[in-house]
Amino acid sequence: MFLAHLLHQQGHDAIVLEQRDRDYVEGRVRAGVLEQGTVDLMHRLGIGQNVAARGLVHEGVNIAVNGDPFRIDLAELTNVSAVTVYGQQAVMQDLFDAAVAQALDIVFEAQNVQLQSLDKDMVEVSWQDTHGANAVSCQFVVGCDGSYGICSSYLPKPKQFEQTYPFGWLGILAEVPPAHEELIYGWHPRGFTLASMRSATRSRYYIQCPADTLLADWSEAQIWDEICTRLGPDLSRGVTRGQAFETSIAPLRSRVTEPMSANRLFLAGDAAHIVPPTGAKGLNLAVTDVMLLADAFDAYFTHDSETALTAYSQRALARTWQAQRFSWWFTHLTHCFADASAYTHRLQQAELNSLRTSRAQQQVFAQNYVGLPL
Ligand code: PHB
Repeated sequence: MFLAHLLHQQGHDAIVLEQRDRDYVEGRVRAGVLEQGTVDLMHRLGIGQNVAARGLVHEGVNIAVNGDPFRIDLAELTNVSAVTVYGQQAVMQDLFDAAVAQALDIVFEAQNVQLQSLDKDMVEVSWQDTHGANAVSCQFVVGCDGSYGICSSYLPKPKQFEQTYPFGWLGILAEVPPAHEELIYGWHPRGFTLASMRSATRSRYYIQCPADTLLADWSEAQIWDEICTRLGPDLSRGVTRGQAFETSIAPLRSRVTEPMSANRLFLAGDAAHIVPPTGAKGLNLAVTDVMLLADAFDAYFTHDSETALTAYSQRALARTWQAQRFSWWFTHLTHCFADASAYTHRLQQAELNSLRTSRAQQQVFAQNYVGLPL
């Protein structure tokens, strides 16, 4: 949707095929932290009013080890200075509202999407929707269809790099004030916890759980107890319990597909790469992919230059691997690995201590957390 808006703003025609309906996309609870570059883009697209009014600007994040927190001052350590807490659901609403107002071409409930003649001058895209069978010829296809989408299967010789973690995150969303004014990422011998939020009255918490955990294994009271145990006695005083209106379990995975383009197909976002949510990079990385792509298409359509399109995969992959590195490192720093040796456990504590005490380490963290420059 960001790419559709960017292309529309540049005056290039695009059609969006979405497998689900609008309610589903807007209703699904996803990421919550926007890098400044993402917020800036929303403003550039003229959809920044709500994020400006309701987004929570955070100039720091907290990391707690066994309930003992320290703060990383994003504002002081970077020249980007802050992140904005604003849910992906709200981002999608803003994108769709503006898409309707500007009459962008979106097909919802597009099923059985197929691509043909990717190596010819025009790609044939066919699908079925509520009106029946449909097709379009276009110069390029961008696969923004997520990790389970079909587009990546059209790469002739993809290489996949992946790692699955032996745990997931159990998430809970409740209409209660957040535990703290900023996010708290917590290490605890029982596992990782994250105290996050969506607004001053809506909290989002996560706890690390074994990969085979079922939601039915946990009562809400047990989830709240576990959050409080892991945050420790001081921080848990800030926790207000309340009835959850969403609980979910998400597996933690890392994956990169290379290259991110072939012929007339380009991949963006989760279709090409997944990061564990620990670094809050997934949505932001998808946005920078399409920013690169929009510029590359513009160079092609207005100056007849293919240079940026040809360079896209390499440029996007370089950024992706930086985000992979940060998300991998932050996940290893803050989670408990059941098979970790006593030696690895001590190393993890030393690494946490180094982050607590070293300004240089904190600066590297802060630069990655707010988002590396494009
Ligand atoms: C969230 O609020 O959903 C959230 C925040 C930070 C993360 C991951 C998820 O790193």
